[in-house]
Amino acid sequence: MPAVTHPTQPIEGQKPGTSGLRKKTQVFIGKHYLQNFVQSIFDAIGGARGKTFVLGGDGRYFNDRAAQLILKMAAANGAARVIVGQGTLLSTPAASHLIRQRGAEGGIILSASHNPGGPTADFGVKYNIANGGPAPEALTEAIHSRTRAITQYHISDGPNVDLSVPGKTALEGMQIEVVDPVAEYAVLMESLFDFDAIRALVAGGFRMRFDAMHAVTGPYAQEILERRLGMAPGTVIHGTPQTDFGGLHPDPNPTWASTLMAEMMAPESPDFGAASDGDGDRNMVLGRGIYVSPSDSLAVLAANAHLAPAYRAGLKGVARSMPTSTAVDRVAKDLGIDCYETPTGWKFFGNLLDAGRVTICGEESFGTGSDHVREKDGLWAVLLWLNILAVRGEGVDKILAAHWARYGRTYYSRHDFEAIPTEDAHQMMSELHADLPTLPGTEVEGLRIAEAEDFAYTDPVDGSVSRGQGVRILFEGGARIVLRLSGTGTEGATLRLYLERFEPDPAHHGLDPQEALAPVIRAAHELAAIRHHIGRDQPNVIT
Ligand code: G1P
Ligand code: ZN
Repeated sequence: MPAVTHPTQPIEGQKPGTSGLRKKTQVFIGKHYLQNFVQSIFDAIGGARGKTFVLGGDGRYFNDRAAQLILKMAAANGAARVIVGQGTLLSTPAASHLIRQRGAEGGIILSASHNPGGPTADFGVKYNIANGGPAPEALTEAIHSRTRAITQYHISDGPNVDLSVPGKTALEGMQIEVVDPVAEYAVLMESLFDFDAIRALVAGGFRMRFDAMHAVTGPYAQEILERRLGMAPGTVIHGTPQTDFGGLHPDPNPTWASTLMAEMMAPESPDFGAASDGDGDRNMVLGRGIYVSPSDSLAVLAANAHLAPAYRAGLKGVARSMPTSTAVDRVAKDLGIDCYETPTGWKFFGNLLDAGRVTICGEESFGTGSDHVREKDGLWAVLLWLNILAVRGEGVDKILAAHWARYGRTYYSRHDFEAIPTEDAHQMMSELHADLPTLPGTEVEGLRIAEAEDFAYTDPVDGSVSRGQGVRILFEGGARIVLRLSGTGTEGATLRLYLERFEPDPAHHGLDPQEALAPVIRAAHELAAIRHHIGRDQPNVIT
């Protein structure tokens, strides 16, 4: 079974976005598409020869075939070893942990995250580097330029490998180790949190519901919540990964996790609810009758992390993506630690975590994590919440109200306008860019603009600069709007509009966020002329 070298040609548009390359599944299945991208990854990292890689995915359609193909390509490219999750499953945070723990060169994760899966839906490939985190921009650029120059790829014509049982095997001299996807991750979680305290909470009658959304976290949540923490069987719903996620969007937000939302808003709901996404890096958290916005969740976790064993000594610093609300900034100020503001995408946290400048990071898009891995981690956030609930002995509602009373409430919402014509979206953004210098000092909807800029970031560790990371308009008094185009959509363009207003007075902490933000929303529509450009003024997803 020799390694075969196939001639190939560059394919347009193999540019990794916010997190890897995401396209329609049929595009990936199409001729040489996946092969070109994988060979470009190997070429861009200086070849695979002698190296160890981690491989796994979220269980979506085409994961199995893609994994076989990648194993054959790794073997033909001379890789020494590939560690694969049994059944091709590995959540993104578990893959990050394995890469770090085994000292691997990197890992290939087969996932389009929270996008739907199936033959007519989406597929994706992410490459993570040796620190366990997403490839930084310089590497994604190198991969992209390689996809434009590629002329050949290498692939073994050996047989498919049985990935259904743990154990060791080989392909053309390359070792393949199939591992239980959950085991080592569960051990890591036990080392971070006070499982005894959580078990005691559960023994006292505390009830939880976890919606795995037919995606990868099902087996992880069953093992950790039901088996190790003693929660009732059935605590985890939609717990068996399906190739099409049951036909749903595996995206843990109020729109897509509507079953869980309904249960938590009903009388007699469980005490705590949570959901995770396709590849297990996102989380949504709910209390009885109450939804915790991701930005608030980040702030609460930062303020209470010292209640968990791993963070007892305090946090080195915190980081949030620019569009994430400033709620965590107020916690950092109070704790006397640094708070970094990065562009959207987890890759920007990597250097800060590696340099020991921050311990906890988060994004408004349901992503929270810490320095235990180099990805956001859905179950980690759920377990930190559980640890905090167990130690404080209070419900989510009380904890949130106390948090707002102490730090003020940051009303926040994100409005998404999906599948809009790409040209219209770019036209809108470029007109807005052109207007930016004229905006400071002007007034819209009774709000006076203090600053207007196109966000650029200089990495404080390596000095690299990332420009064009979103338009940010700050108003006097602390309200803020941010507009940017998504880097993960697969149909047309998606406009993300982020809205924020700070309210220090506890007498006004009980408003509905959309109501509290009404003038800010109107100002955003006026400033960007959204209806004029895209013909719509209603978003299709509000979080
Ligand atoms: C979205 C989120 C972003 C997150 C990324 C990957 O990217 O907004 O915060 O890091 O998914 O999960 P976007 O589509 O906005 O580029
Ligand atoms: Zn994800």
